[in-house]
Amino acid sequence: MALKLEPGTRLVVATHNPGKARELAEILEGRFELVAAGELGLPEPEETETTFVGNALLKARAAAEATGQIALADDSGLSVKALDGAPGIFSARWAGPGKDFALAMRKVEERLEEAGAEDYSAWFTSALAVAWPGGPAVVVEGRVDGTLSFPPRGDKGFGYDPIFVPAGFDQTFGEMEPATKDGLSHRARAFAKLKAALL
Ligand code: IMP
Repeated sequence: MALKLEPGTRLVVATHNPGKARELAEILEGRFELVAAGELGLPEPEETETTFVGNALLKARAAAEATGQIALADDSGLSVKALDGAPGIFSARWAGPGKDFALAMRKVEERLEEAGAEDYSAWFTSALAVAWPGGPAVVVEGRVDGTLSFPPRGDKGFGYDPIFVPAGFDQTFGEMEPATKDGLSHRARAFAKLKAALL
């Protein structure tokens, strides 16, 4: 089987996070027919792997097997250098069952203060995986580096966006226009690699 995605291919997008689904739709530029896993009533598999790549593959494979269609999944998160890469793959989990990112951002700030950290370097990672039902899969990873800034600023993005200032900018991701974030984000960079591999 040729690992190519023709324009108009129907892709099941295996994310239940509306912020990520919207950004993926913006980045995929109307190129594919996207169907949200939530619309198909697919359950969210437990993320049992220890890396972004492992979890993205797990989610794409689960969606491809459940639907019999080509599936795209993302696993992403924020890594903080002074916290040895935490929250990392636990980024969503730090927000608790209520998905409270004000709480998660406070937790990052508290951990940095407890550690007496002076270096607030951080990066977002996005792993994107495409899986064919019963078949192969392709996975890539993109990253954007920056610095954390407190208190949180801006209400445009989602998750940890209000505390992340990408390198070379003064605004947080939460203050930026979505098109600006989409031009440099970890997800956009991962997608550029996926395009190179599959289109
Ligand atoms: P998962 O990929 O569904 O496990 O969740 C990753 C978590 O990382 C999200 O819930 C967000 O909190 C965080 N995250 C990933 N990408 C971004 C982003 O672009 N901005 C802000 N937070 C993000």
